[in-house]
Amino acid sequence: SASEEESMVPDMDKRNTMNLLLAGAASSVALGCLGPYALFFVPVGSAGSGGGLVARDAAGNALAAEPYLASRPANSRELVLGLQGEATYLIVDADKAIEPFALNAVCTHLGCVVPWVAAENKFKCPCHGSQYDRNGKVIRGPAPLSLALEHVDINADGQIVLSSWKDTDFRTGDAPWWN
Ligand code: FES
Repeated sequence: SASEEESMVPDMDKRNTMNLLLAGAASSVALGCLGPYALFFVPVGSAGSGGGLVARDAAGNALAAEPYLASRPANSRELVLGLQGEATYLIVDADKAIEPFALNAVCTHLGCVVPWVAAENKFKCPCHGSQYDRNGKVIRGPAPLSLALEHVDINADGQIVLSSWKDTDFRTGDAPWWN
């Protein structure tokens, strides 16, 4: 356990103190720069698993569910800026509703952004040929794992909110590998 490990390392206390000091210094620098950006980090109450970020298009505009749905066909998968600014697929299902999950578009092999190939109903990585089904489950290597999931909710202002997925991966029944 962590406490057993700690007791075996004589100067762990000193190191922990150093880490705390470093973390403290880093966060006060970070807070100093927050200013106008602080709003982006305000947790969203309705996001389900404790906070989230409003999804944005490539130009940085916050995405609202109603206009988003009005301008997209059923079964679309489109890239937005997701958690940590990563390319993330928002999915419109066959009934023209936004799926409650989004997919991180980064290939689990070596990190290329994986395009959606609507004609074949799957994601196909151009780098080394990995394939993922319509829900991002890996169906062909060399990618070892399915695309990471994010929760999708609509907040009180009608905006599309992404938050981290900590539950079981419904595609595989496994614990999420990305946490
Ligand atoms: Fe996607 Fe290698 S990075 S298959």
